[in-house]
Formats: sequence, C-alpha cells, structure tokens
Amino acid sequence: MVQRSGTAIPIITVDGPSGVGKGTLCIRLAKHFGWHLLDSGAIYRALALCIDNTHVDLNNNNEIVNKTMYLDVLFESKDEEMDVYLEGKLVSSELRSERIGELASKLAAMPEVRDALLQRQRDFAQSPGLVADGRDMGSVVFPHAPLKIFLNASVEERGRRRYKQLKAKGCNVNLAQLLREIAARDSRDAQRSVAPLKATEDAHQIDTTHLSADEVFEIVLKLSEQKFGLAI
Ligand code: C5P
Repeated sequence: MVQRSGTAIPIITVDGPSGVGKGTLCIRLAKHFGWHLLDSGAIYRALALCIDNTHVDLNNNNEIVNKTMYLDVLFESKDEEMDVYLEGKLVSSELRSERIGELASKLAAMPEVRDALLQRQRDFAQSPGLVADGRDMGSVVFPHAPLKIFLNASVEERGRRRYKQLKAKGCNVNLAQLLREIAARDSRDAQRSVAPLKATEDAHQIDTTHLSADEVFEIVLKLSEQKFGLAI
C-alpha cells in the first residue's frame, strides 16, 4: 500500500509498450473497483498538443518546462472512455493521433519534463484506490505499489490493435506506416536515459499477443483478489 496522509491507498500499476491493451484494461479495472484512473500517456499527449498548438521549438527547454508546469489538463471519466480537456477544450480525439504520440514520446524523453509531471501524477493516488496506466508507473511514479502489471505483445499484434482502434474512431491510417511508427516510438521509450520502458522485477509480466481483452482482465482480477483481498 502507498501511504498518503496516514492512509493506505491500494494501487495497481499497468505498464507496457504502445497498443498493448493497457488503456482498455485500466478503464475496466478502475470501473470494476470504483477506483481512480491515471492515464499518464494522456498527460504527455496533452503536453504534446499544447506544444504543437503554440509552436514551441523542441530545443527551447525553458519554454517546454514552463508549458509542462502550467499544463491545464483535466480528465472526466465517461462510460468506457476518458474525456480529456486541454485549457477547457475537449481534445480526446486529437490526442490519439500517432503524430501527437510521436511528439509526446520526444517530450517524454526529456528529464525536466518527467520531473515536472511527477508530483501531478502521484496526486492521483486517492482513496479508495488507483489504477495507473503508463510506461514508468511501477518503476518511478509508484515504486511501492503493491500490484504491478507489465503487459507485452508482438509489435504486429499491437499495430493491428491500434489500427482497429484508430479506424473505429474514423482516423485515416495505414497499417504498414503505423507499424513503423509504433516500433520507432517503442525503441525511443525503451532506450531513453530517464524512466525507460522496462518491467520491474516485482511486476507480473503478461504476454497478451494471444489473449483477448476479457482474458487479460480476468488474470489481473485474480491477481488483485490475491493481493488486496478484493471481491471479484
Ligand atoms: O500511452 P500513450 O501511447 O498514450 O503514451 C504516449 C507517449 O507518452 C509514450 O510513447 C511515451 O513516450 C510517453 N509516456 C511516458 N511515460 C508514461 C506514459 C507515457 O513516457 N508514463
């Protein structure tokens, strides 16, 4: 449990590369237990959109840190999704493009950006519990979380899932290009010097290549029951 003002907050961290099914799993877990949800990727994506909208040069570290510290991003849970507002404007769909994902990944490799977002992410740990989705949830943001999950799947399967997701949202996508972009983003996320994408030793690693979303959900529910004694 993570101690916060003398109270133990149960936390489940879910990390893994893009398109592996973290988002779907985390939304379902948070809903099932009635816990809070931290979609940390959406924070990095909202920052990317803000930087893109305001045409800040990627070499201008001071301005990027300034934008990060004053980032006005809000989340509102809605059915199976999370609405994201940037400066009061609904931006959920805009955030999902691979172009914004790519820019988010470049910004996420900057140590100053990660430092500036650390406390904001930790503040999501509120009663009755938290499900945290990202790349460094179990390694850096919530290193003492009692239950850590690390999802993986082949790059082809992740590309296929992301393709279906984007198509369903009406986006114009090309599978071959998407696969190249995902592979490039994974490689940057795994090789950066700060908080690289990596499973911690205490994480439960699940290869979801041949598993359905329901099967992954069932596995994690069982682990949650064992760890927290939660009814499932
Ligand atoms: O998870 P999602 O694809 O929305 O994340 C977008 C990008 O944000 C990732 O490729 C990664 O570079 C970055 N990210 C991160 N740490 C997190 C969450 C996301 O570096 N905890």
